[in-house]
Amino acid sequence: MLVSAKEMLQKAKAGHYAVGQFNINNLEWTKAILLTAEEQRSPVILGVSEGAGKYMCGYKTVAAMVKAMIEELKITVPVALHLDHGSYDGCYRCIEAGFSSVMFDGSHYPIAENVEKTRELVRVCGEKGISLEAEVGSIGGEEDGVVGMGECADPNECKMIADLGVTMLAAGIGNIHGKYPPNWPGLSFETLAAVSEKVGDMPLVLHGGTGIPSDMIKKAISLGVSKINVNTECQLSFAAATRAYIEAGKDQQGKGFDPRKLLAPGFEAIKATVKEKMELFGSVGKA
Ligand code: 13P
Repeated sequence: MLVSAKEMLQKAKAGHYAVGQFNINNLEWTKAILLTAEEQRSPVILGVSEGAGKYMCGYKTVAAMVKAMIEELKITVPVALHLDHGSYDGCYRCIEAGFSSVMFDGSHYPIAENVEKTRELVRVCGEKGISLEAEVGSIGGEEDGVVGMGECADPNECKMIADLGVTMLAAGIGNIHGKYPPNWPGLSFETLAAVSEKVGDMPLVLHGGTGIPSDMIKKAISLGVSKINVNTECQLSFAAATRAYIEAGKDQQGKGFDPRKLLAPGFEAIKATVKEKMELFGSVGKA
């Protein structure tokens, strides 16, 4: 059964660990993440970007696949199905399709409009028991064609949005999506501490979980981060394993590659990446 991310994140915040959000792109990624969460007895959040949702034939297909997989694989750990960087309309479509969690990325709106739209979604999500993530201060890098500058959030704006009653808050602290450039100055713990102080018990979300050094991850968790998003690292490990399999020429003389065998090394690589992250985030055994 899918659950809202609220309880798992409140527990994580109180227990000083973080729950991983791993983005899904197809059946293999979903299966790999769910099986790893079950093996590690870890709660997990499956993230779906609007682009990935479109690729997988729409949010209804995604919700149906994930719900059926949880049943067929006998997954017993808490799983939230979450829209990642959703538009205002996208949030409503996911709520209708049966997602248990949504992110409204209103960071590109003027703060007053971000507040109004978030307020309305707090009401709708509250009625349906769905968790809601809001964002303040855009997160750098590229996500589905949208390029952010990686600014640091204003702690007062964070408080304004948190006070509306969202479940969790993504505050920009110099983090960016994708690989970090060599001259990246690191996370702004000053900003994180200031935001944390303003928002109290509210679980904070760290986007761009790929490539942040382990000591920074641990410090961020100690300062109130209880959800960490990872996508690119799964892509890199999946691609490397698939490439190695193809380059090894393991096709079936004249019949091409068996699609299930072709995707198996990538599947195992994602499992290994997810396990490593769950260990780093401290969520193993917390289901
Ligand atoms: P990475 O692709 O950098 O891991 O970031 C993922 C993310 O933040 C999704 O919202």
